[in-house]
Amino acid sequence: MKPRVLSGMRPTGPLHLGHLVGVLHNWTRLQETYDCCFMVADYHALMSEYEHPERLREHAYQNVLDWVACGIDPSRSVVFRQSDVPEHLELFAILAIITPLGWVERVPTYKEQLRELEGRDVTTYGFLGYPVLQAADILLYRAQFVPVGEDQLPHLELAREIVRRLHALCKRTLFPEPQALLTDSPKLLGTDGRKMSKSYGNTIDLSESPDGIRRIAQTMFTDPTRIKMRDPGHPERCNVCHYWRLFAPAQHAQVWEECRTAARGCAQNKAELAEVLGRVTEPFRAARKRLDDSPAGDRYGMVERLLQEGARKARAIAQQTMADVKAAFGLA
Ligand code: TRP
Repeated sequence: MKPRVLSGMRPTGPLHLGHLVGVLHNWTRLQETYDCCFMVADYHALMSEYEHPERLREHAYQNVLDWVACGIDPSRSVVFRQSDVPEHLELFAILAIITPLGWVERVPTYKEQLRELEGRDVTTYGFLGYPVLQAADILLYRAQFVPVGEDQLPHLELAREIVRRLHALCKRTLFPEPQALLTDSPKLLGTDGRKMSKSYGNTIDLSESPDGIRRIAQTMFTDPTRIKMRDPGHPERCNVCHYWRLFAPAQHAQVWEECRTAARGCAQNKAELAEVLGRVTEPFRAARKRLDDSPAGDRYGMVERLLQEGARKARAIAQQTMADVKAAFGLA
């Protein structure tokens, strides 16, 4: 029996290179060693997008197609959509009952999100419970490991605190305490040097064409202290050079050296990086095209069937857990 991993992603828009290097490469590798569950966290997305849910379903389909194109294998891993498994809400309700208000009020991401999610009113009852729902996601599958970024560590900590409290209250052990699996992949910044995010308009989407990549690469920020071409560059301060290290590790030493000695200008550096990015994303585009082309007619029928099959496997696990939890609390 392999240890179980659960992770999730909110379907709030198209996936970009940041998702590829930060999440999807890692997920694909984990499939080798763990029993993996990968979830489309559509309830979590709804918590911030409830005022405009029109594209939620489509984002979910699009994201799953991207996952599969990146190598997530639905015959090996359980790939499912949160809202297909009602047990998430059932466990969420029980965890909400036993979670002290102070615990959720002091989760740092909460206050941060209240500030950051501009244009969205997340001062709702439900949003306060965001990390409690996340704890339910994890516990439902009794996952030992949760691959997440650093920003999610407080949610994992809360999940462990909830587990301990639940065990103390019902005087039995039902769950492993879930541990974070931190990715060692360095953070990929957006084209403007800030965190890559749709809301900043600084992404390179996975579905971007080679021409689109060329156009976007031209707009990338470089070393701000390098004004003229013959000024020596500082590759460690240049986002374009960081991309080189990540996407063309074999060539990066030479590129960095040429930047330092001003043998390479920023325009050339960006143009050549665009070719590299076009090449490394080519297998993804080809796989994605095969998926898009396969069943003519019903555009999302194949993904829907895939998700239904995933939900069937997920529910089998989730229902067993709920039976144990309800028994522990004297519920039906
Ligand atoms: N909160 C996570 C994020 O924003 C998404 C998520 C929801 C998740 N449920 C999860 C991640 C369970 C890991 C496990 O990235």
